[in-house]
Amino acid sequence: MPFDPIIEQPLDQPLSTERSRTTLARVMGVMDANNYGNVHGGVIMRAVDEAGAVAAVRHSQGSVVTAFMDEMAFLEPVKLGDLLTTRAQVNWTGRTSMEVGVRVTVQRQGFQHDIHVSTAYLVFVAIDSDGNPRAVPPIAPDTDEETLRFRAAEIRRASRLERRRAIKELRERGIEP
Ligand SMILES: CC(C)(COP(=O)(O)OP(=O)(O)OC[C@H]1O[C@@H](n2cnc3c(N)ncnc32)[C@H](O)[C@@H]1OP(=O)(O)O)[C@@H](O)C(=O)NCCC(=O)NCCS
Repeated sequence: MPFDPIIEQPLDQPLSTERSRTTLARVMGVMDANNYGNVHGGVIMRAVDEAGAVAAVRHSQGSVVTAFMDEMAFLEPVKLGDLLTTRAQVNWTGRTSMEVGVRVTVQRQGFQHDIHVSTAYLVFVAIDSDGNPRAVPPIAPDTDEETLRFRAAEIRRASRLERRRAIKELRERGIEP
């Protein structure tokens, strides 16, 4: 989803993870759920995309597009009336792309603890006003946890690029994926 640019500081300065950290929350209403009160998976995916995009915009200080969303597993159903919370942060940066991790939880009446619904990883690409990829500031992982997240993101990136390469090869041979 495109966002208006907010230019704040030089783009070659490494930025902390903290800067991109984003929390969005919304109570699930009747339009989000089916007749049995279960929230549609697409509603949750949209919330993930929105929180991820805000984190990517905060890091890259300008517009971004979603380039890739990893497969998502839904561990628990989300119900009408739940408070759906998405927490996002940039885990890894390349030249123009960023991997954002998004954790989805719900607070439900009568439950003492948050319920973990899903964790998703998305790739956002920063774009300029012509829609072309633009450079993003590097991320500077500060803590051991952030360093581990950075390394795990590198592994996921290698697999995504391999999948992308395989699809490109199919197309080059005239086979539509
Ligand atoms: C995403 C997009 C800008 C990439 O453009 P492109 O011409 O393929 O650009 P590049 O090949 O230079 O890739 C740009 C970056 O994205 C990364 N990238 C692109 N596709 C990717 C994928 N499937 N998985 C992981 N990374 C990907 C590249 O590795 C590169 O990262 P880097 O600069 O950090 O090394 C373009 O495909 C696009 O506009 N797609 C539509 C996006 C969209 O409409 N999203 C939904 C609504 S927002």
